[in-house]
Amino acid sequence: MNDMKYLTLNEKAVAILQSNDRGGYTVPTSGLYPYQWNWDSVFAAWGFATFDKPRAWDELDTLFASQWDDGMVPHIIFHQDDPGYFPGPDMWQVNRNPATSGISQPPVAATLAREILAMDPDGLDRVRALFPKIKAWHRWWAEQRCSQGPVAITHPWESGRDNCPDWDIGMANVDGSNVGDYQRRDTGHVDASMRPGKEDYDRYLAILYFGRDTGWNQSEIVANGPFLMADPGITFILLRAHVDLIEIGRQLGEDVQEIETWAAALRSSLPMIWNADIGAYDARDLRTGTFSGNIGSGAFLSLLADESTPELDTHLQRIWDAVAYGIPSFDPDAVLFDPRRYWRGPTWPVVNSLIALGLRRAGRFEDEARLRRETAQLISKHGFFEYFDPKDATPCGGNDFTWTAAIWLTWAGRDFQEEAD
Ligand code: DGY
Repeated sequence: MNDMKYLTLNEKAVAILQSNDRGGYTVPTSGLYPYQWNWDSVFAAWGFATFDKPRAWDELDTLFASQWDDGMVPHIIFHQDDPGYFPGPDMWQVNRNPATSGISQPPVAATLAREILAMDPDGLDRVRALFPKIKAWHRWWAEQRCSQGPVAITHPWESGRDNCPDWDIGMANVDGSNVGDYQRRDTGHVDASMRPGKEDYDRYLAILYFGRDTGWNQSEIVANGPFLMADPGITFILLRAHVDLIEIGRQLGEDVQEIETWAAALRSSLPMIWNADIGAYDARDLRTGTFSGNIGSGAFLSLLADESTPELDTHLQRIWDAVAYGIPSFDPDAVLFDPRRYWRGPTWPVVNSLIALGLRRAGRFEDEARLRRETAQLISKHGFFEYFDPKDATPCGGNDFTWTAAIWLTWAGRDFQEEAD
C-alpha cells in the first residue's frame, strides 16, 4: 500500500479495498481473515461499486461460483491455503474446489446487489446472471432453515455475530470437552481480550465436527446437531433481502411469486422471536423454546426489515444514549456487556450501515444522520478497524478492514469533511 499518511480518507478506503483484493475476491483483512468470507465479500462489492463497477459484480460472481448444489453459499471460500487461519479447509473437509466451509452467513447479497444496481446503469445484465443463484440461496434458507418459522442457525458463526450473548444458552448445551488439542491463530493477530474465549472455541469446533461427521448433511444437522437457534439478525436480513430480490426480479421481468411466498411466511413468523418479557426481538433456542433474554444488534436489525416497534425503539434510544458511538452490539446496561470483546458490546460500523438502510427507508433521517456522524468519527479518528469500543472509541480487532473501508465509501464517509492538518 502507498504511504497511507498522506492520503485522504476516501483514498485510504480505496487503497484498503485494492490491497485486500486477491484477484476476483477480497479478503476481510490480511492475517486474521486470509480467505473470502461471504458477507464481507458482498460489502466489498458495494465498496468497489463506488469506483470500479465491473469489479463489484466480479466479487459477487466469485462468491456465487462456490455455491453448493443445494443452493447454500458457504461462509468461507478457501481459495489458497493459508496456515495463518484456523480452522482451515482440512478441518471442514468439504470436498470442493476451491474448498469451502460447511455453513453459511447472513444473506446480504440481494440487498447490496440492489444498491449496486442503482449505482450502475449497465448492471442489469450482470444482475440477471446472479438472480437465479441468489434465488436458489434464498430457497435454501426458506426450505432448510425456516421450517419452524424464523431463520435457524446451526453454528454461531453462521450469524456473523459469532460470540454475542444471544448464543450463550445454545452454546451451554454444546459439549466442547472432547475436541482435543488445537492451535488457534486468531489470537496471534489480535489481542485475545478482543476475541472469543477458549471455551467458545471448543464448542465452535464440537459443532463443526458434528457437521463434518454427517458429511454436511443439512437435515441431519438441523434435526440432531448440537446447536440450533433462531437468529433475529439473519431473520431480518433475509426478510429485507427477499424484498430486494423481489424488486430486482421485477426489474428483470422475472416471476417473483415464490419469493413473495417466502417473504410472507417469514414475516408472519416474527411473533415467534418476540420476547414480551423484555419487549424486544430475541434469539431463541429451537431445541428448548427458551429465549436468550438479551437485547443487541440482532434485534435492531429489525429496522432493516421495516419491523420496529415502540417498545424496541425505547430500548434503542436508551442503549444508543448510553454510549458515545452507537449502536453497540450489546446492551451496555446488561451485566454481560463487554465493550471490546468481539460481538459482546463493541460498535460495528458495518452493522450500522445496515441499520442505516432501514432508518432511511423509514424516513428517520435524523437518526440516520446521527449514526453516520458517529460512525464517521470512529473511522476518521481511529482508522478502518473491524470494530470499536462504543464508549471510548478504542479501535479493536483487525485493521485496514475491507468492510469498514467499503461502508466508508458507500455510506459513512458521505458528506464527511476532512479537517486540514
Ligand atoms: C472467525 O474465524 O472468527 C470467523 O468469524 C468465523 O467465521
